[in-house]
Amino acid sequence: MKIALIGYGKMGKAIEAIALEKNKKAGKDIYEIALKIDIDNRHLITTEELSQVDVAIEFTSPNTAIDNIHWCFDANVPIVVGTTGWTQQLSTIQQYAAENNKAFLFAPNYSIGVNIFFEINRQLANIMNDYDDYNIDMLEVHHTEKKDAPSGTALFAALDILKRVKRKDQWRNYASDNSGTLSIISERTPDVPGTHVVRYTSPIDDIELKHTAHNRTGFASGALLAAEWLVGKKGYYSMEDVLGFNQEEK
Ligand SMILES: NC(=O)c1ccc[n+]([C@@H]2O[C@H](COP(=O)([O-])OP(=O)(O)OC[C@H]3O[C@@H](n4cnc5c(N)ncnc54)[C@H](O)[C@@H]3O)[C@@H](O)[C@H]2O)c1
Repeated sequence: MKIALIGYGKMGKAIEAIALEKNKKAGKDIYEIALKIDIDNRHLITTEELSQVDVAIEFTSPNTAIDNIHWCFDANVPIVVGTTGWTQQLSTIQQYAAENNKAFLFAPNYSIGVNIFFEINRQLANIMNDYDDYNIDMLEVHHTEKKDAPSGTALFAALDILKRVKRKDQWRNYASDNSGTLSIISERTPDVPGTHVVRYTSPIDDIELKHTAHNRTGFASGALLAAEWLVGKKGYYSMEDVLGFNQEEK
């Protein structure tokens, strides 16, 4: 499978390392990193170059992700996007992919553990909708270079809660006293790959759901899994589709 890495930073490099390790284990080249695009060779992002690969994996920055997606759409190359912080445009991109038969997959977090955390978060929110004594808030901690806040992962989990818990109708990225607000507290601490906590607190007891990433390997191997899954498909998808969690039933 020929892969274009769009963005060769921490995540691009981690994906390359996993792909090479998998080749080594298999004793053959399952993956070929055929194209690596970063800021200093951006002129290589052309239809001609991209059309030589089977799939593109995009981890760059919020202000460039949409351009990169359109380059891949134009070249008819399936694209897996990991960049966060641009998702106010997500539904427009999804609609474009669906209407024009392009293959697009976005996940705010590719780690399989986080996607299980999302699934339990949805189930817990369904239960806790009936228990008004519990306030809900969230905490997310990331390394100091992270550009967006709250994290895409925290936002995704927050929206899943807002859809299910009627007493919360908005989120804010600060500690709020408003009972209808779901507060998301963002902390930036050196070298933290990503920690997310959903807290239900009451005068009697607390319930916490926590995911702690120990390194980037989970994001990188999940993105590679998603890329392999996307080849040959049309339309837009999420990690729930890759993992077989069917959100429609909830
Ligand atoms: N969805 C997930 O699972 C997940 C996991 C980790 C990080 N992220 C997100 O992915 C993005 C990248 O994360 P990272 O840790 O690799 O960051 P990084 O800063 O280490 O790497 C980003 C790379 O993109 C390059 N880049 C920037 N603008 C570019 C452009 N116009 N064209 C080509 N390359 C460009 C930069 O030079 C850099 O090398 C961030 O938005 C981050 O929040 C998502």
